[in-house]
Amino acid sequence: MKYILAIDQGTTSSRAILFNKQMKIEAVSQEEFPQYFPNSGWVEHNPNDLFETVINSCKNVLKKANATIEDIVSIGITNQRETTVVWDKNTGEAIYNAIVWQDRRTAKECSSLKEQGYEKTIVEKTGLLLDPYFSGMKLKWILDNVDGAKQKAINGDLLFGTVDSFLIWKLSEKENHVTDATNAARTMLFNIKTNKWDEEICKLLDIPMNILPTVKDCADDFAIVNKKFFGKEISISGVAGDQQSAAIGQACFEPGMVKSTYGTGCFALLNIGDKMVTSKNKLLTTIAYRLDGKITYALEGSIFIAGAVIQWLRDGLKIINHAKDAQELAKKADVNQQLYMVPAFTGLGAPYWDTTCRGAIYGLTRATGPNEFSKAALESVAYQTKDLLEAMKDDLCNFDEASNNKTILRVDGGMASSDYTMQFLSDILGATIDRPEILETTALGVAWLAGMKVGFYPSKEEFSKNWILEKRFNSNMKSETREKLYDGWKDAIERTLTRK
Ligand code: G3P
Repeated sequence: MKYILAIDQGTTSSRAILFNKQMKIEAVSQEEFPQYFPNSGWVEHNPNDLFETVINSCKNVLKKANATIEDIVSIGITNQRETTVVWDKNTGEAIYNAIVWQDRRTAKECSSLKEQGYEKTIVEKTGLLLDPYFSGMKLKWILDNVDGAKQKAINGDLLFGTVDSFLIWKLSEKENHVTDATNAARTMLFNIKTNKWDEEICKLLDIPMNILPTVKDCADDFAIVNKKFFGKEISISGVAGDQQSAAIGQACFEPGMVKSTYGTGCFALLNIGDKMVTSKNKLLTTIAYRLDGKITYALEGSIFIAGAVIQWLRDGLKIINHAKDAQELAKKADVNQQLYMVPAFTGLGAPYWDTTCRGAIYGLTRATGPNEFSKAALESVAYQTKDLLEAMKDDLCNFDEASNNKTILRVDGGMASSDYTMQFLSDILGATIDRPEILETTALGVAWLAGMKVGFYPSKEEFSKNWILEKRFNSNMKSETREKLYDGWKDAIERTLTRK
């Protein structure tokens, strides 16, 4: 048997997934690693943990499938995006922990740059907002705060990378300092119009450009894994940031196609084709994929809390034992109570970008109990998705036309397995929700990129035909009911925001 090995280096765990010739999953291995919170709003990972858990997961998945490295045709890497690593190219050691995408330590610098009027340039060139979320500010922090780092960088002794880039450099035994266009697009240093690192932004942030990796297509010759790791050299031929990889795994190759991934947070990506559209509604414009040097753009909405609200019901409120119990309680909720839960535990992401507001619940009565809390929590995920879709429609005046007047949302991630939530999502969006057979779309996307590059998997067109529907959800809700419910949500949001 021959396989593609997909590495998914995520925020809480590293995973390795083996896909066979039919693009079906043969085995999965996963290993978690510690999270570090050295200060309020700071989130770090030890880069060595990321690397070691990747290696362990790869070795374990081969064992599970009773396979050897001889059976691997090529490797694809997908990763938590924006997370920033800076390492010494002589010693191979990171000079500081990886600063994770969730980390907010550069909020003040971002505000100050905004006050000086720099956000417009950033948005126009990178499609992103001036926010601590992106790698550029994290890289600047490391160079400004680690002793001697700036000088070492100027001397050419340091390298910067998102997690994909760091893993590839290590796996290739210091040979290849590379990344792909989707990861580069999340740094706030990459000009997504010119397809190049942006000199003006690097100058503004005082970042020496010799520290940046070479940017490749998503399906490309990235590196050869040194044989010291698995006993045999093996190519890495596909790389994409995890949300872009999920969009590819969902075969969202046509303008107007949208996918939404429900993990800890929720990330919705809308394919907008080969023209960059700048959002009027604080969505991000990003590179969906770059194949044969040709960029396809996406509008992205990022919600920070989706599945995490269910974790909170379980670990914080302790009203459920397992995530799947939430929908059972929700089904028993009193229909006469209308609760709205705004899960702004760490502020609100798109389209509000309010870092200081916090979670709130509206509509409590003496009869409110765990059932109503569970229902409100699940519904909050759907309402937040509707906020994103409304913003996307407003940004793209031909959105409905592009999707043949029929919005179809392809869903994946843990929460997508909840029928109750997906039905409510369909009802409140007034749109069709399609759930594929393979919910591991993130790994599938990058497996296809790698396999396609080496001729093991078919072209984009054939791959699209392979996308198999598991279940379709159609909206059953009257439009008046939908409007009334959504008005209530908008009112709850207005009352929660600190930035009016
Ligand atoms: O932008 C952050 C995103 O890539 C993180 O994804 O799945 O690792 O939480 P995940």
